[in-house]
Amino acid sequence: MYYPDDLVEDIRSRNDIVDVISGYVRIQKKGASYFGLCPFHNEKSPSFSVSSVKQMYYCFGCGAGGNVYSFLMNYENYSFPEAVKVLAERAGVALPEIEYNEEQKKTASLKATLLEINKEAAKYYYYCLRSPNGKQGMDYFEKRQLSEETRKQFGLGYANKTSNDLVLYLRSKGYRDEHIIQAGLASQNEKYGVHDKFWNRVMFPIQDSNHRVIGFGGRVMGEGEPKYLNSPETPIFDKSRNLYGLNFARSSRKENIILCEGYMDVIAMHQAGFNQAVASLGTAFTSGQANLLRRFTQTVILAYDSDGAGTKAALRAIGILREVGLTAKVLSMVPYKDPDEFMKALGPEEFQKRIDNAKNSFLFEIQVLEREYDLSDPESKTKFHKEIARRLCEFSEEVERENYIEVIAETYHIGFDSLRKLVQNTAANTGLAKAIEKPKSGIQKKLQPEEGKKKAQRLLITWLSENPALYKQAKAYISPKDFTLELYQKVAEIMFAELEQGHFEPARIVSLFLEEEEQREVAALFNTKLEKLSTSADKEKAFRDILLSVKRISLEHYTAQLGSDVNALNQVIEAKKALLELEKTHILFVE
Ligand code: CTP
Ligand code: MN
Repeated sequence: MYYPDDLVEDIRSRNDIVDVISGYVRIQKKGASYFGLCPFHNEKSPSFSVSSVKQMYYCFGCGAGGNVYSFLMNYENYSFPEAVKVLAERAGVALPEIEYNEEQKKTASLKATLLEINKEAAKYYYYCLRSPNGKQGMDYFEKRQLSEETRKQFGLGYANKTSNDLVLYLRSKGYRDEHIIQAGLASQNEKYGVHDKFWNRVMFPIQDSNHRVIGFGGRVMGEGEPKYLNSPETPIFDKSRNLYGLNFARSSRKENIILCEGYMDVIAMHQAGFNQAVASLGTAFTSGQANLLRRFTQTVILAYDSDGAGTKAALRAIGILREVGLTAKVLSMVPYKDPDEFMKALGPEEFQKRIDNAKNSFLFEIQVLEREYDLSDPESKTKFHKEIARRLCEFSEEVERENYIEVIAETYHIGFDSLRKLVQNTAANTGLAKAIEKPKSGIQKKLQPEEGKKKAQRLLITWLSENPALYKQAKAYISPKDFTLELYQKVAEIMFAELEQGHFEPARIVSLFLEEEEQREVAALFNTKLEKLSTSADKEKAFRDILLSVKRISLEHYTAQLGSDVNALNQVIEAKKALLELEKTHILFVE
């Protein structure tokens, strides 16, 4: 952490989260909290809540959550120090100058310099496109039917035929060669000295989701290799964590994000009104990018080229999207190759139809799979059916599996019952037998108890944060050690210590965790949905039940560790005693 904790906390407390978030999201008071449409995923009814008491936000839809710092870090893509700076300024708090150690200072200032250089270069290329020398570039964009408005929006430019004019320009602005090279805009060798990386190409500046130029793609205007030349990875250009077009797509408020392959596709789509289009950056789609998308949408529509390479890339992307919990659909561009061609040939209305008809990703996978088999040959056909059955086994939920069996049976003219049986046999043979015999518990069987444990512990933390007065009674039975997950235990330790001293601030606790994922988890801890209970008797019973289950989980946890952990025995003895006590105790509900 670069700033002292006290200062971070002081700045946080001077920036009311309701005020800050109101500047970005329309929220309305409903009961004790404010609600609005979540800015981190697409939704039609509000599940994004902001609590003035807890000074936290939490989305019941996508699980985004945290304090005022996390909000700015996620919404504006700020780093933590950047968020501190912005909020300090907002509250009129002066920040000490010497917050960084030498190493950190160096990286921060290097990054700032590289960003400046990229921005200057983008301005320069933009200017060149519009100067007489840039005519060839301008003609090229005209030929590709990009309007002046579009050229402006994407900051398109042109790199001259001369081999070092950008370097000369940047030097004249006072930048050092070393930095120009580190920004990926120039290279150095004995023959040519320091020379431009890009020349005689039309230029596509690549922006991060906050519109900062972090790199470039440059395209040859005719034939030539490589077709696209891209900036190398630099301290500010991480190709696996940024997406072309996301700076616009993030605020498109469409129901989906369209993922395509190329820069030109993205631009053509935006020009046609599909401002939710993005593309990866000359490399394959990564899980870092999938996670990034998860902040903005639940559904990703793949609009990859309709050739073999495109199909292969789509299959890969489906797997990655599925892993982070996003729904993937596949859009067919047939008979055209890519969105750019499609748009020129058939126009936006037809494209919208293709979006509406985008194929379920599982069915797409099966459709691609089918091509590997000769369905006129019984042996090959049987293999195909067996492979389908194997894949169907991967759905852990019975309803979902049955629905897919139904659709696939119909599409491929397999009898419903016989496909279902095949799935059951496959499951039995591959060790998934239980899933089928007792479909309700499903493959998730292993996961559920774990989820249940977490849920009970989260409930307790939320209860205590909403009714701190209950702490006095709870502490007789529960200690932070009873929270069996590491993160939960850490939070409980801080929370219990604060409750003990009578000044409990959940939003402060969030700042103590640096990783976004941790902050989300912490926010979830304080925002578990509680049942609405009206009578004190109900509340007392519910609270006692939660204490009991947390204690039982703890007992189970430490019993399992008896052999390996020296403290476990104490915990077990203590838990048994507390449980006995608790079972005969009446909890008094005080608000
Ligand atoms: N790409 C690359 N290097 C290449 C070819 C392609 O980095 N030599 C990347 C670019 O990011 C490009 C994407 O792969 O945008 C898709 O390639 P392609 O379909 O060939 O490019 P388009 O964007 O469709 O460009 P165009 O329509 O101008 O051919
Ligand atoms: Mn293309």
